[in-house]
Amino acid sequence: MAMASSAPPIGHVGVLTSGGDAPGMNAAIRAVVRASHYYGLRVSGILEGFDGLVRDVIKPMAVRDVSNIIQRGGTILRSARSEAFLTVEGREVARANMARHGIDALVVIGGDGTFRGAAAFNREHALPVIGIPGTIDNDVAGTDVTIGFDTATNTAVEMIDRIRDTASAHDRLFFVEVMGRTAGAIAVQCGIAAGAEFVMVPEQKQDIAQLVTVLERSAKSKSSVIVIVAEGDEEGGAYEVARKVKQRFAHYDTRVSVLGHVQRGGNPTVSDRVLASRSGVAAVEGLLQGRTNELVGVINGQITYTAFNVAPPKASVGETELLRILNILSI
Ligand code: F6P
Repeated sequence: MAMASSAPPIGHVGVLTSGGDAPGMNAAIRAVVRASHYYGLRVSGILEGFDGLVRDVIKPMAVRDVSNIIQRGGTILRSARSEAFLTVEGREVARANMARHGIDALVVIGGDGTFRGAAAFNREHALPVIGIPGTIDNDVAGTDVTIGFDTATNTAVEMIDRIRDTASAHDRLFFVEVMGRTAGAIAVQCGIAAGAEFVMVPEQKQDIAQLVTVLERSAKSKSSVIVIVAEGDEEGGAYEVARKVKQRFAHYDTRVSVLGHVQRGGNPTVSDRVLASRSGVAAVEGLLQGRTNELVGVINGQITYTAFNVAPPKASVGETELLRILNILSI
């Protein structure tokens, strides 16, 4: 149980963003800063993730320091990988820097890698730390959705809609690669929303033969076909899948489009802003309740705290269900 009611009271919260940025991180920073002030706590921003903690790039944040950021993509605290923080010595330097600033608790915004770093820090220095899942990949256990996923999928679908226009005008087959690292959540969500004919995700083994069967069926009745390929698919990225398909099926004029980092930028959607705002407040309130080593998620609409070390779901039930629906709707 991570609740520790006998823990000393929190006086000064540090907040950082780590790993790949995600739209809505700024809204989460704003919520952590404002909630801290609301509850009478001091709060400091740590620049460039855990690396800033080691290099001592830390600045106090006032209520107005987070004005006009709720609508902005990226992260005002910036993000970076930290080799130094991966070492015990680096984490000792980080702890000493925190002590010098009087920071006695951390809110870390990021993905699984961020939470692994936070858990190691907590193990060694017994420091209260709460995580907020912020990644476009939606691959964190303990929440139905991560901050940035809704924005990224909306951006990707807008791009895929545009691809559909040109694909239909030329009877073309497009392979569209979306991000997600080792997860297929972005691909599945976009596949449904863009009316794709097929989706390749790492969580399920859909082989090229299966895809070719769908393409043969589509070739008889459709003027365009869109196959969404998750970048982490075991068959390879969109270029590789297109190459393998061409060897067996030559009906369509084929093109490949890799959406890339456009998925990470842009103004967060309303859903991401609200999720980030709720999560930021819940993170501070969790610290005040004596919670530590947990991330704040939203499950079935309710704020939920989950221990950091829960492994990410491999193939979520939701994704399996969405793939089934896609199969029905793409006839
Ligand atoms: O985790 C977010 C993410 O955008 C992944 O979807 C992608 O695989 C990765 O980060 C890209 O990382 P980088 O920006 O370092 O190329």
